[in-house]
Amino acid sequence: MTGGASGIGLATVRRFVAEGANVVFCDLSPEQGREVAAALGDAGKLHHRRRAEGGPNDGVTIAATLGGRSIFVAADVTDQTSLEHVFATATEVFGGLDILVNNAGVGGGEGPIESTPRSLFDRTMAVNLLGPWLGIKLAFPLLRARGGGSIVNTASVSALVGMPGQGAYGASKAGVLQLTRVAAIEGASDFIRVNAVCPGGVLTPIIYDSPIFESGFDPALVDQGLAGAQPLPRACKPEDVADAILWLASDESSFVTGQSINVDGGLTIEFDSRYRTKSNFQR
Ligand SMILES: NC(=O)c1ccc[n+]([C@@H]2O[C@H](COP(=O)([O-])OP(=O)(O)OC[C@H]3O[C@@H](n4cnc5c(N)ncnc54)[C@H](O)[C@@H]3O)[C@@H](O)[C@H]2O)c1
Repeated sequence: MTGGASGIGLATVRRFVAEGANVVFCDLSPEQGREVAAALGDAGKLHHRRRAEGGPNDGVTIAATLGGRSIFVAADVTDQTSLEHVFATATEVFGGLDILVNNAGVGGGEGPIESTPRSLFDRTMAVNLLGPWLGIKLAFPLLRARGGGSIVNTASVSALVGMPGQGAYGASKAGVLQLTRVAAIEGASDFIRVNAVCPGGVLTPIIYDSPIFESGFDPALVDQGLAGAQPLPRACKPEDVADAILWLASDESSFVTGQSINVDGGLTIEFDSRYRTKSNFQR
């Protein structure tokens, strides 16, 4: 599991552990987060501010609270060597790999293409698209050795509809969907399944704590805002996405590959959300 110390990744790690899985999860450590941000300049803004030692997004502390079924390995998904270490840990400690969740992601609030620094585009692509590509590349031989397995990639509804201000983010997530299809075909003869989830707006730090913005937003207000963003009248929780990831990872989806599930409360099936607020369309 990549990007497992926050939001959707953290909910998924918890859910997998509760289901009895052994989980190795990676994320940037607090120190790595600071180093990456310092080294990246503008693009360092993509790494959210709640990563402090012992804080809510410190993977070491999270793993300690989850007990022996989970191990945290600090890794940057854009760095093949550190990702190799994550897979080596799964093999050495738990005897092999059956599931990979490529979930680490950044961005979504970069603004119009013409005013977005190139460095934000590069970092968004590196984390959101190169990261899953590297994950798939490294996971395939390990899954093949187990007689098959399941890879789940976290894409986004931003891959499906044009969202202004998400030129880099949306393009990276659209890339993830195509990567999912290609990898699904390449893995099929070895019973390696590859699928994706496309969440809508989910109440996580990537939205309310993004350092792209001067200050964070009140999560309660974001919750309210997201509740009105799609036909189902509540915000999407990280656990909603974790449930879909769990199904795609499990044998209960064993004949499903190359697909994506929209976990979006109906956001992408609606013609025009403004109709919902007009009297003759009200609930
Ligand atoms: N929250 C939403 O509205 C939403 C909607 C659609 C898709 N997504 C996607 O869901 C995934 C999870 O996002 P989230 O909402 O839980 O946000 P989040 O910020 O809470 O979690 C993302 C995690 O990825 C980690 N990460 C970032 N760069 C990394 C790197 N280089 N190496 C390792 N880890 C790295 C972050 O440190 C963070 O812990 C992302 O891929 C995101 O794009 C989120």
